[in-house]
Amino acid sequence: MAKITTATLMKMKQQGEKITTITAYDASFAKIFDQAGIHAILIGDSLGMVLQGHDDTLPVDIDHMAYHTQSVKRGVENTLIIADMPFMSYATTEQAYINATKLMQAGASIVKLEGGEWLEETIKGLVERGIPVCAHLGLTPQSVNVFGGFKVQGRESDKALEMIEHAKALEAAGAQLLVLECIPSGLGKAITEAVSIPTIGIGAGKDTDGQILVMHDALGISCSYMPKFSRNFLIDTGDIKKAIELYIDEVSKGNFPGPEHIFK
Ligand code: KIV
Ligand code: NA
Repeated sequence: MAKITTATLMKMKQQGEKITTITAYDASFAKIFDQAGIHAILIGDSLGMVLQGHDDTLPVDIDHMAYHTQSVKRGVENTLIIADMPFMSYATTEQAYINATKLMQAGASIVKLEGGEWLEETIKGLVERGIPVCAHLGLTPQSVNVFGGFKVQGRESDKALEMIEHAKALEAAGAQLLVLECIPSGLGKAITEAVSIPTIGIGAGKDTDGQILVMHDALGISCSYMPKFSRNFLIDTGDIKKAIELYIDEVSKGNFPGPEHIFK
């Protein structure tokens, strides 16, 4: 497999090939996922929950993200490395430049930011300076306290239309990827059709260009509970590499997510 770039993912969208993505936080898992043929690995700020045991992602800081990005980088040969900008590390455009630089120098190839239209200037500035951006809409966990809990977003038709407009604005600002989290599957489809950049869904239905899971959910090792949109791929395989190969296969064939994993 050749080295995967944002251009590879763009081509996959155009050809209707599913993009498979998973989180990782260290070299050993990253290496297995890379060898299994996953297209992209996200060093998610979900590490605040699955590694550090917090109730949300807010305690994660840029040094945590850089440390885990360095670790993942050492395990990866071909997979695209996406790193999350943590809570308040891009509150201003200047802060975004400083903090995104740390992630790129730690080994990321693209950084992910949560939010809509208000990020336009930041995204444009980052891209102009050589830092590719993955945007993230829907249930953006850094805003859990604004949402009043981890709740499906975009259920009302005005909110859904608003989210489509945000997606277009993020693309126009220069975002090269878009994560969609916990939204009705119909909205996942509508946004995927409304933008030309690849969409990667988690709890966003089967019609996004790709899927992402938190590795702990995909392997059934989460601290407390299994989200509705996830599946334990280890249980059917008994081997971590085979579990990820099964995940890739099920996404590629359109079998995952199934009807039981989506929000209507
Ligand atoms: O932090 C994370 O793992 C994420 C994914 C759930 C998309 O942002
Ligand atoms: Na995240």
